Amino acid sequence: AAFAAPIDVTKCGEATTLPTGVTKIDCCPPPNPDIIDFTFPSKTQPLRIRPPAHTLDAKYVAKFKKAMQLMRDLPSDDPHSFAQQAAIHCAYCDSSYQMVGFPNKKIDVHFSWLFFPFHRWYLYFYEKILGKLIDDPTFGLPFWNWDSPAGAPIPSIFADTSSPLYDVLRDASHQPPLMADLNYSSSVASLTGDELIKSNNTVMYNQMVSSAKTPELFFGKPYRAGDDQIKGQGAIENIPHTQIHIWTGDPNQPNGEDMGRFYSAGRDPIFYSHHANVDRMWNIWKTLPGKNRKDFTDTDYLDSAFLFYDENKQLVRVKVRDCLDTKKLGYDYKEVPLPWLKSRP
Ligand code: C2O
Repeated sequence: AAFAAPIDVTKCGEATTLPTGVTKIDCCPPPNPDIIDFTFPSKTQPLRIRPPAHTLDAKYVAKFKKAMQLMRDLPSDDPHSFAQQAAIHCAYCDSSYQMVGFPNKKIDVHFSWLFFPFHRWYLYFYEKILGKLIDDPTFGLPFWNWDSPAGAPIPSIFADTSSPLYDVLRDASHQPPLMADLNYSSSVASLTGDELIKSNNTVMYNQMVSSAKTPELFFGKPYRAGDDQIKGQGAIENIPHTQIHIWTGDPNQPNGEDMGRFYSAGRDPIFYSHHANVDRMWNIWKTLPGKNRKDFTDTDYLDSAFLFYDENKQLVRVKVRDCLDTKKLGYDYKEVPLPWLKSRP
């Protein structure tokens, strides 16, 4: 077969894989025939540095809260509104998009090599929109530093019930200062204290180092036009990315909402900081020793495209090939210690 990048970004329809019982929602972006191709931001801007969310000073927290409040206050049909930003996750994960040349095959950007680049682009625009709302083009989206003991609890800025960063649909028993269990399973009691720290470090070492020696093991399996949705997740997507979603969501909701299900995960502001740390792992992985720790060079991967409204409400078609270097996208992560790197079991 002639392979090709899978998503037809011009065909967004009904989200057909919403969990049963969930009220039908339109997850597609507000339609607009005017689509432009992505161009890189100008190099004259300083890099946006994404800081660890548990270390922000009062000024940074105030700025972040203000941006979130403004985003929440926009009418729900505004592409910059929080409702629309949250719906993006539903559109790309609950089968709103169809496949190039295969109208009956629906897209899910999880479980394959699309996982990392899709979420990178999603956060890229989310961060630029937040920055635009507060008129600060240097605004960097804080990351949930769950790979370190001090950063593992839900960062307190998200737990303040009066904050626009708060979401009520979370597990009430998983509040700070409780550390997230990177190996969480609802049916097994979590370790605590030093044992949990040790276990979390082992998880990180396994998923970043020993079980991720090739691009396929790290990013996930190829996903091309014509493919059935395959379960070919990369190491980090599999663990701890999924566990943190489930650990955060409310187990008393029918589908673990908000964080525990694709359609609703984007409704919790912590989702974006969780994914910022996932995205940070991509950058870190490429710096670890080993000659195979490189991005894929397959053109079906590089030409895979997504569609987003940018900070100027312009619809932009982006390609995977343009997101491989975050510095070119104008951002980087604050460097913090990697306690797990020396934790070879
Ligand atoms: Cu699109 Cu963390 O999932």
